[in-house]
Amino acid sequence: LSTTEADLEGIEVGSEVTVVWQGKPVFVRHRTEEDIQRAEDVDLAELRDPQPDADRVIKPEWLIMVGICTHLGCVPLKGQGEYGGWFCPCHGSHYDTSGRIRKGPAPLNLAIPPYEFLDDNNIKIG
Ligand code: FES
Repeated sequence: LSTTEADLEGIEVGSEVTVVWQGKPVFVRHRTEEDIQRAEDVDLAELRDPQPDADRVIKPEWLIMVGICTHLGCVPLKGQGEYGGWFCPCHGSHYDTSGRIRKGPAPLNLAIPPYEFLDDNNIKIG
């Protein structure tokens, strides 16, 4: 299948599920108000791969990203690292609450796959 559907109902605020799209893990994170605020407050001049949070989401409370580190392809861990987002244990890349690279060897932000909302609680990835 080239597309994957995900049901968002039941993913509590602050939690995340991983779905598989084209053989890749995709993180579906239900962000807290604090996660969103933190992501929006970042000065873009500080970023290695500058991208406003607003360009990475359709709805701010849902962050949908390919869960593959842009360094050498490990799967980053949620809720770890220095920026409240993800941490890649392979070589120590830290991602923020928007999945943007903040520290460590990875060159780019975690990728945003193509996706759309089918209704309030369902998305189609791909
Ligand atoms: Fe993630 Fe190297 S693969 S830091």
